[in-house]
Amino acid sequence: MFEKLLTPFPINSMTLANRLVLPAMVTRLSGEDGFVNQDITDRYVRFAKGEVGLIVVEAMAVHQAKSGPLLRISSDEFKPGLTDLASKVHDTSNSKVVPQIIHFLKIARNGWRQKIEDLSIADIQAIIEQYGQAALRARECGFDGVEMHMAHAYTLSSFLSKKNKRPDIYGGKSLDNRMRLPLQILKRVREMVGDDFAVGVRFLGEECIKGGYTTEESATIALRMAQSGIDYISLSAGGKFEDAVHKEGEVLYPYTGYSGDRCMPPMDYPDGYNLHMAEAARRMLRRHGLTTPVVATGKIPSPEFAEEILQDDRADLIGMARALLADPDLPRKARMGESEKIVKCIYWNICKALDENFHKVVCGLWPKDEVQAPYSEDQEAPVWSAEQPLSVLVRSGNIRLSWKLATDNEAVMGYEVWRSDDGGKTFAHVYSITTSMWTDHLAAAGNAYQYYIRAYDLAGNRSVPSNIVDAELPLEVALPPEPKAIARPSFMKPSMV
Ligand SMILES: Cc1cc2nc3c(=O)[nH]c(=O)nc-3n(C[C@H](O)[C@H](O)[C@H](O)COP(=O)(O)O)c2cc1C
Repeated sequence: MFEKLLTPFPINSMTLANRLVLPAMVTRLSGEDGFVNQDITDRYVRFAKGEVGLIVVEAMAVHQAKSGPLLRISSDEFKPGLTDLASKVHDTSNSKVVPQIIHFLKIARNGWRQKIEDLSIADIQAIIEQYGQAALRARECGFDGVEMHMAHAYTLSSFLSKKNKRPDIYGGKSLDNRMRLPLQILKRVREMVGDDFAVGVRFLGEECIKGGYTTEESATIALRMAQSGIDYISLSAGGKFEDAVHKEGEVLYPYTGYSGDRCMPPMDYPDGYNLHMAEAARRMLRRHGLTTPVVATGKIPSPEFAEEILQDDRADLIGMARALLADPDLPRKARMGESEKIVKCIYWNICKALDENFHKVVCGLWPKDEVQAPYSEDQEAPVWSAEQPLSVLVRSGNIRLSWKLATDNEAVMGYEVWRSDDGGKTFAHVYSITTSMWTDHLAAAGNAYQYYIRAYDLAGNRSVPSNIVDAELPLEVALPPEPKAIARPSFMKPSMV
């Protein structure tokens, strides 16, 4: 069924067991000291247990600058923890593991931020060396490769940016100038790690800000990177400071504006929203006879959709960040023909809000207070405690579902809501939730809907569908929607969901 997705894939000297990639995702599990701790190791071992082809470990700093809870690879003192992490991942499964290495500039709570225009040539030389040394450490720690972070709001992305205002050979309108530092870093990294070590890069397919670059340039960036010997290209989108919203007294979070939504598309964005970027880069590479693989990421929720993308030659590898956070066992379940047991990410962005607030990044679908995704091999599905568990109420222009809880031999993890808008002929999964009530804010007045729910347990076993209920919103009601009746961490303000 997943013919391409589950086919091994070589990248330089490593061979991925499948074409699924966990793109870097900051966990906020480390302390401010930047050392690997048990929670961090457990997080990546958990992904390895789920059998993802390539694990990109969250961004870790190549330099010493202060930045809250963030991993570091900036000196040899971090090597024992990183070595242990890499070896524990290797001991767990065939997953390959690379660290994402990052340089960022200074930023203050009053909104001030250092710009690339402030960097002297000596500063630039230091960054080149810091990347080279960090990449060498990655190799010495036993990682299978290294990924250079050149995306979002960080230093190298700002050099690549069309907003780069440096007046010298590292900036301005010329793409050659803007690529100069990234390519110098790639050259230095290659010198340090040798030819037989996978070196990947992540940059933006589109900046998603006014005046930022689009695929017109990112395809060319991809081409030059590939011509310079990069082993894989991973594309992201947006995540820029330029349109970020500054909150009084807090450091600017580069994912709060439109470009932030493009980076981590929320639930009301279409699936595969950023796919055209990977397609554009890949087309350019193939036209020039280059086979450098391109990773597509951005709301790719299921192995079925991933397979379709690969079959259509729109990308070579599939990045899934939040979907794998929700269920690290997605690759294993796909391999075992159990994809109906996958716990589906709803792109609610609880994980993003946690990252923004420097809280430990977990998934809102996991059992409360758990720091890691649950694991279970149980085969027994939850059962309903009532014959007709689901009821519906149409009130104040809203359709509200509530249901009697299901029971399970281990534990019920959550409930999936399925909806039909064609008289019950086809149903689509629209939400998952851990409580027993849900309001359909996307229902349109004048339409008739049918709903059922399914309970699922820690292993993802689904109960039989509940009874089906019908609901129709009258056209004439135009009252503002009521606040969502959902449990959220106490630090979150209503505007965050
Ligand atoms: C909590 C969180 C932390 C992230 N941290 C990083 C990071 O360290 N480096 C990076 O390149 N992207 C980071 N991202 C972006 C993801 O790698 C990914 O591109 C994005 O979530 C879209 O993919 P998805 O729709 O599969 O989740 C992060 C995303 C989230 C949700």
